[in-house]
Amino acid sequence: MPEPFEPRTYGDAIADVYDEWNADGPDGVAEAAADFLARCAGERGTALELGIGTGRIAIPLAARGIAVTGVDASPRMVERLRAKPGGAGLPVIVGDLADVPVSGSFDLVYIVASTLYCLTEQQTQVRALSLAAARLRPGGRLVVEAFVPDPSRFDRGQRVEARTADTDAVRLDVARHDPVTQTVFSQQIAITADGIRLYPVHLRYIWPAELDLMARLAGLDLVHRSGGWRGEPYTAASSGHVTVYQRPAP
Ligand SMILES: C[S@@+](CC[C@H](N)C(=O)[O-])C[C@H]1O[C@@H](n2cnc3c(N)ncnc32)[C@H](O)[C@@H]1O
Repeated sequence: MPEPFEPRTYGDAIADVYDEWNADGPDGVAEAAADFLARCAGERGTALELGIGTGRIAIPLAARGIAVTGVDASPRMVERLRAKPGGAGLPVIVGDLADVPVSGSFDLVYIVASTLYCLTEQQTQVRALSLAAARLRPGGRLVVEAFVPDPSRFDRGQRVEARTADTDAVRLDVARHDPVTQTVFSQQIAITADGIRLYPVHLRYIWPAELDLMARLAGLDLVHRSGGWRGEPYTAASSGHVTVYQRPAP
């Protein structure tokens, strides 16, 4: 019997290499994201990150004066966050983002790096967005960043990709796609002199128009969609999107 894929499975497996594999490049995308989110939260605003991980975005956002609270299912990711400068003081609830296990209200709730797709059923995604919307003050904003689905990546429901190939290591991505449920199960496979390590990912992607409908069901209005954190236009060629929704003010 294969091991069950739990909410903590992805994070616990990848925690040791997450920051190395997702290091901010010279284009400073994490800093751009923090600038964008700080503007959404407003001066000295409050923010809730669902799937805070190692604090890649939350720590630079907190450094801009925003009071950030996080939720994450993976104790190992949270350990990594705690070990970083500026990470120890951030309140983090270890739990399932499907339940949004937080009280209080926030100026901003955000979920980035396609983390909403970690909920692998449509009804769970709808419920999580409704619970997230309920944590917004009237007029508060929900920001979702995610990749734009591209089923053409798959050939007869599968894809194998060489992510890196060096003299002493390779990293492969082996994926299976089910277009009916919009789910992808993949393994990133790292092969080094120390052996083979598996990093499983299970996701359900959401079409942007589907996301807008989910947000509408949650009582949110679409404010703006761009193709990136620096306000790049969202076009048919965009591989990702940053979308801002708002809880209507009374
Ligand atoms: C792609 S990482 C993104 C981390 C961080 N937001 C960032 O931008 O670097 C996804 C994060 O969501 C967490 N996660 C996945 N499924 C979850 C769930 N059901 N409930 C809570 N956290 C979850 C993982 O542990 C991981 O830390």
